[in-house]
Amino acid sequence: MNTFYHGDCLFVLKHDIAPESVDLIYLDPPFFTGKIQKGVWQPGAMEVSYEDSKKFWSEKAEIMREKAPAWLRHIALKRPDFASYLYYMMVRLEACHKVLKHTGGIFLHCDWRASHYLKMIMDEIFGSSNFRNEIIWHYSGWNKILSNSFESRSDSILFYARSAEQKNKFRSWTAPWASKEEYVRTRKQKIRKDENGKEYVLSDAGGGKRVKRYLEDAMKVGQPIDNVWDLDKINNSSAEATGYPTQKPEILLNRIILSSTDESDLVLDPFCGCGTCIIAAHKLNRRWIGIDINKFAYDTTKGREKQIPLGMIDDFKNAHYITRDIEETKLLTPKQFEDWVNEYYKATKPHPDGGVDGITQEGIPIQVKTFQIKYDTIDKLLSSSKYHPLVPKPIKKLIFASQTGYDDSARKRKFEIETAEGIKVELNTPEEMLKIEEN
Ligand SMILES: C[S@@+](CC[C@H](N)C(=O)[O-])C[C@H]1O[C@@H](n2cnc3c(N)ncnc32)[C@H](O)[C@@H]1O
Repeated sequence: MNTFYHGDCLFVLKHDIAPESVDLIYLDPPFFTGKIQKGVWQPGAMEVSYEDSKKFWSEKAEIMREKAPAWLRHIALKRPDFASYLYYMMVRLEACHKVLKHTGGIFLHCDWRASHYLKMIMDEIFGSSNFRNEIIWHYSGWNKILSNSFESRSDSILFYARSAEQKNKFRSWTAPWASKEEYVRTRKQKIRKDENGKEYVLSDAGGGKRVKRYLEDAMKVGQPIDNVWDLDKINNSSAEATGYPTQKPEILLNRIILSSTDESDLVLDPFCGCGTCIIAAHKLNRRWIGIDINKFAYDTTKGREKQIPLGMIDDFKNAHYITRDIEETKLLTPKQFEDWVNEYYKATKPHPDGGVDGITQEGIPIQVKTFQIKYDTIDKLLSSSKYHPLVPKPIKKLIFASQTGYDDSARKRKFEIETAEGIKVELNTPEEMLKIEEN
């Protein structure tokens, strides 16, 4: 099922996505600009922003001292913030490696600020023999006269395979074209109409000759592409523009998706922003998972519904939204919180429930509370489970999840049950359930 997760991609990659289940990963993380990225260019749009600054990684310095490779610890001596950004990326890229299929490819979008260091990290995680290209995305614009350098007008996309098997999926040419507009923009061709209104282009036949070719035929013929991609950035008046800062053009994502996936394959974007990768994947009939730590990203992606062709819109509207954000789980109603806990544990609610809110696939009973869990709460689930026909016996474990926590009496009862009855008791809050392990 197509799913948007709100939360840190590290957690989602580790908890929610099965190993070796994804065909393609595209990621466009913060570039270490140190800025608050803001955007509001569409009239009437609300301001959207996310922070590309210390906020995401400053606390990681301690862990990094123990876990980072020696070269990264060395960088930390002079540039601690940059090193912790790299470490932050490293653990997320390791998690990406685990979920990617052996036939899969990963495209890491970055720029001059970190690309060389990220390449070292990618070489370590994916293996230097799996490096495929550094794609240079060049975009045009007004160049300023700078005093000591040239204007930077490109991003780097580091492309790696998960293994040698990736060659079975990959195509280095452009056909089939994702759309007429894309064909025309990329080939810089003008569409003409013949006397019957049928569209054609004049294509180069060599020796200075040009021949008339009907568009539908021309679009079937691809062309091999190299690693320098001259594609325009989104401009403010384009139909695609959402106002989300650092939005990438769909044409770029189409090219990546078409190179490395077939219809129905699963595409993952762990830093999906306003969902360009998701939108492109959806329109190309691929399944998708998008993750973003910023709720605006989801709102903006949802707001792009109108860019989806009519026949595909229901699937887009029915995509799952799952939160992995601690604060958001605190705002859930009791029913929503119960559903959320069951989804988290891949559990189902029994009917009739008989005092048990959920049972996991391994047969572990769950009790969900919005208020604090106490001695009695634990006792009640223990006795309900003993008599519940759907809870396998002997009972091995009980799970409790509370929006607000548990008190000392609950800890006492947990200790008693674990020592006297040999049943494990897990007491949880969203903080504990969504804890992010950086290693
Ligand atoms: C450069 S933007 C992505 C833009 C996107 N490619 C598009 O076309 O809209 C980076 C995104 O990463 C998100 N982000 C930052 N840290 C994250 C994390 N740990 N997990 C998930 N998303 C994160 C930010 O909220 C931001 O939306």
